[in-house]
Amino acid sequence: MKRILVTGAAGQIGQDLVPALRERYGSDMVVAAGHRKPLPGSVIRGGPTTAVDVTDYGQIVDTIRKYGIGTIHHLSTILSALAEQERQRGHEVNINGLYNVLEAAHACGVERVVAPSSIAAFGPETPREPTPNDTIQKPNTLYGIAKVFGELLGNYYSTKVGLDVRGLRLPGIVSCMDQEPTAGTTDYAVLIFFGAIREKRYTCFLKPDTRLPMMYMPDAIKAIIDLAEADFARLRHHADFNVAAMSFTPAELAGAIRKRIPEFEMDYEIDPLRQAIADSWPRSLDDSAARREWGWEPGYDMDGMVDDMLDKMRKKLQKAD
Ligand code: SER
Repeated sequence: MKRILVTGAAGQIGQDLVPALRERYGSDMVVAAGHRKPLPGSVIRGGPTTAVDVTDYGQIVDTIRKYGIGTIHHLSTILSALAEQERQRGHEVNINGLYNVLEAAHACGVERVVAPSSIAAFGPETPREPTPNDTIQKPNTLYGIAKVFGELLGNYYSTKVGLDVRGLRLPGIVSCMDQEPTAGTTDYAVLIFFGAIREKRYTCFLKPDTRLPMMYMPDAIKAIIDLAEADFARLRHHADFNVAAMSFTPAELAGAIRKRIPEFEMDYEIDPLRQAIADSWPRSLDDSAARREWGWEPGYDMDGMVDDMLDKMRKKLQKAD
């Protein structure tokens, strides 16, 4: 079997995807690639690691050849809020980076590239509840525009070039992180747990009734691996699957936390940039194509996620103290 390369392995999803892939395929089989942000200790200790700047085509080719890569999970990205502020870097990583990865994969005979898209691939004109798999996509953020480009490019390589590219539109992902996230619009749903455990309070940057689709990390990992392993012959879509698990508002998530931590308090200081982004995204998703074509099914609802997050974050933050 050929090895798996994960780009962006220091990011929110990479930190959890790398250990899950190593558990499944063997630690030596999964090469974790970081760039600017240092890779977490657990990723470094668990198997091979390397540095890859996805804006550098040559580096990707060298890495594929050196490690005998057969599958790439391409996670490097500049998230929604940061890409609005750093347009040039957003363009280089989100557009040129993906193009480089696909071209290098094709040139080197890689079998498969999994490149997640996002709910950001939709825009203000998209039907928002539930958003169909195949619908109007006119995002008004640079991150979203890059995600639409990525979906179309992935479908093009799958059908015209003969490189198997798969992708799913991930909603906001909630996970137990080492450090507070800063670059995304859905980050409040992770930051709220840091606040709840450390200070029993949190100031939210989105309005209380902003409903967004969300998913707990174990489901996101399951979705990525299940899609990567799905039978190609059954796929009618390729790089553009909706996947849903739950939808909630900041007020509802705060309520679920308050049931477990009665003193928890939340107030609001709205960030206009992130509020405008959230207001252009779906409130819920129709994921019937993913269910039909590769058997997608989520395991966690909001209550299951809150119980598990509080438990894991308490342990993580205690250790860090
Ligand atoms: N969670 C991402 C963000 O907020 C969207 O894919 O930017």
